Parts: sequence; C-alpha cells; structure tokens
Amino acid sequence: MLSSPAPLLLFACIVSLYTFLTLSILDDIRVVLKRRPTPLSHYSESQSFCADSCPVDISVNPLAWIEDDVPDHLALLGAKKHVLMPVEESVRFGVHEPEAYDEWLSLISPEDQGNVRLGPNHRFMNVALIHQQHCLRFFRTHLVEDESLSQADVHHTEHCLSLWREHTLCAADITLEPGDPFAHNFTAQRDMGVRQCMDVRAFYKTMWKYWGDWVQYLESRGMEPAH
Ligand SMILES: *[C@@H]1O[C@H](CO)[C@@H](O)[C@H](O)[C@H]1NC(C)=O
Repeated sequence: MLSSPAPLLLFACIVSLYTFLTLSILDDIRVVLKRRPTPLSHYSESQSFCADSCPVDISVNPLAWIEDDVPDHLALLGAKKHVLMPVEESVRFGVHEPEAYDEWLSLISPEDQGNVRLGPNHRFMNVALIHQQHCLRFFRTHLVEDESLSQADVHHTEHCLSLWREHTLCAADITLEPGDPFAHNFTAQRDMGVRQCMDVRAFYKTMWKYWGDWVQYLESRGMEPAH
C-alpha cells in the first residue's frame, strides 16, 4: 500500500527552503568579505611563485614583511622538486678528528651564518635548517669535551634533543630498512640506500644570493656586514 505523498512533499519543501536560506546567507557573507580590505600578505604574490627570478626587493606594498606578514618558508631559487641522495657511512664528519670541527662548520651557509634578510625592510630571519645544524655541531662539541656540561649547556642540549625529536617526527623517514639496522657491519656495507630529498644545493645557492644582495645594500650605504 502506498503511503500518502503529503509528508514527502512537506519534507521536500523543508529541504528546498533550508537550501535556499543557506545559499542566501553564504551569498551575504561573500558580499561582506569582498568589502574587507585586502590582507597584508603581498609578499606571496611576488616571492613564492617566481622560482628563478624572485626579486629580493619587494616594493609592492610597504606594509608587507611587517610583523606577521612574512612567508613561512624561504622561497628557494631554481630548486629541483626532489633530488636523490645516497645515505652512506662517511669518513668525513667525525667527532675527534682534527678536521671535524671545520667539516661540521662547513654545513652552515658561508658568511651569513644561516641568517637571511628578506623583503623591502631587510627583515632578519633564520632558516630552521641552520638551527638543526647548529644543534648537531653542539652535540659534537660536547662529545669531544672532557669537562662536564654546565647547567646552561645541559638546558641547551635538552632543547636541541627535543628539537631533533620533533623534526624527525615531522619529516619522518618511512623507508623500509632490511632486517636489524644495528646488526649491520657498517665497514663492509656502507651504503644505506638512496633517498628522495629536497634540493639542498638550491638552498645554499639561495642563501648566497641573498647574502650578496644584503652586502650590496650595505655597501650602497657605505657600510660593511658585521662578522
Ligand atoms: C666488518 O667488515 C670488515 C671489512 O670487511 C671486517 O674487517 C670486520 O671484521 C667486520 N666486523 C665485524 C664485527 O664483523
């Protein structure tokens, strides 16, 4: 037996009315949002999408690059999407060797010490990779030191360990390694596979370019970079 169509009709009416009301409210919201002033994030137009030809001096909007109006990431110049990097044991980057200090230091971008000045105000920023590398150097330094750590160094070590804990979780490497990696004889088998990585050469190239721009700016005002 067919039920009466009245409840179905009523239901259809309610759904239509509800849809109409929702859409009209959304339209109103859109109209109001359109009237708002443009957000301050003008850096993104010129900085993030310009690949090779990023202008360093972004004079689009004098309010850009002030307070929170900064990009989250350094826009790398001419970066490949991925590069392949073999992960392997190395005779470099040791702990006690006389050259170890310089080798670990060589990871930092030259001259600028990982600091970069961006935008029309030459806003001083630090790149997180440099912070990570600073922590690695800090661990090595304390492995070679005979004296026990000062209280300040203990805190610093805790900070660095925690930073690395979070960074490895954030960019977790889910490559499957064969068997027990610690049972490995690293002298006989040095190679631990190839990883797909970010283009770190482009990072150093970018830092070098920005450093050059900063020095040029200082020189144009008769100043020199502090060392
Ligand atoms: C690891 O391999 C090297 C080189 O083949 C060998 O001399 C060494 O004895 C091995 N170590 C162990 C613990 O098997």
